[in-house]
Amino acid sequence: MWDYSEQVLEHFYNPRNHGTMETVEEPDVAVVYGEVGSISCGDALRLHLKIKESTDTILDSRFQTFGCTSAIASSSALTELVKGKTLDEALNITNHEIADFLGGLPEAKMHCSVMGQEALEAAIYKYRGIEVEHHDDDDEGTLICSCFGITETKIRRVAIENDLTEVEQITNYIKAGGGCGTCLANIEDILIEVQAEKAALADRVTAQLDTSAEPAEVPNLTPIQKITLIQQVLDTEVRPMLMADGGNVELYNVEGDRVQVILTGACGSCASSTETLKYAIENKLKILVSPALTVEQVEG
Ligand code: FES
Repeated sequence: MWDYSEQVLEHFYNPRNHGTMETVEEPDVAVVYGEVGSISCGDALRLHLKIKESTDTILDSRFQTFGCTSAIASSSALTELVKGKTLDEALNITNHEIADFLGGLPEAKMHCSVMGQEALEAAIYKYRGIEVEHHDDDDEGTLICSCFGITETKIRRVAIENDLTEVEQITNYIKAGGGCGTCLANIEDILIEVQAEKAALADRVTAQLDTSAEPAEVPNLTPIQKITLIQQVLDTEVRPMLMADGGNVELYNVEGDRVQVILTGACGSCASSTETLKYAIENKLKILVSPALTVEQVEG
């Protein structure tokens, strides 16, 4: 028997916003759904969104799922979380926020929150007309787990995004390795590689700090490596400085060389927040990640 939180059980027994959503003939309103998994094979989620087109705001949401207690509770939580958010804000919802909304999920059930996040992305990308943009790279690369159709790319992404270091965690988050088990050694190798790459990036930050304040050479980073390094610099070099003044910073998005951040606490209301951005954050990122980076503040 899983050790579920009260919130999980509450959303399971009384799921919010369960059902489908009909297309509406209302001006300025669109209905769209995103789907992950396979409804015919089980363990699937279809998430419906009603969107006010002029403001990109989610007016309402419904879900249909085949899944366990956690899948139903996660889907229910997600429909509550997205209401009233803009599409950009909704895209910023992580699977951890879904789990946190429910007072946590058993580690072995975290894949249910991942499924919710992916269905949300699928719905929004479909609305925006972006073809298979939803982690489309995940389907490329070497197939590692044939039981669940999981590639190396997806294992790497989920490991980096959720800071996973154990094979068992990968199984809990995306099921890879949870079938015949023949892929477990390969998953282990991938996690060792990911950890080595993260350590190398951390060493690079340290070496750069120790030796020079000159901008770094433009590194040959993959998009995920770049985001990971930016996040590391914010965590280790910028956040402690801002927190000392009662502020904080969250990474919102990275588009090419544009880094969008949300300043909170004292920083968010500070008249000199633009200065803070330019001199405290942008300069750090230029030195430690790439001189091409620019930083801009977005509203949280
Ligand atoms: S190939 Fe991964 S569990 Fe079977």
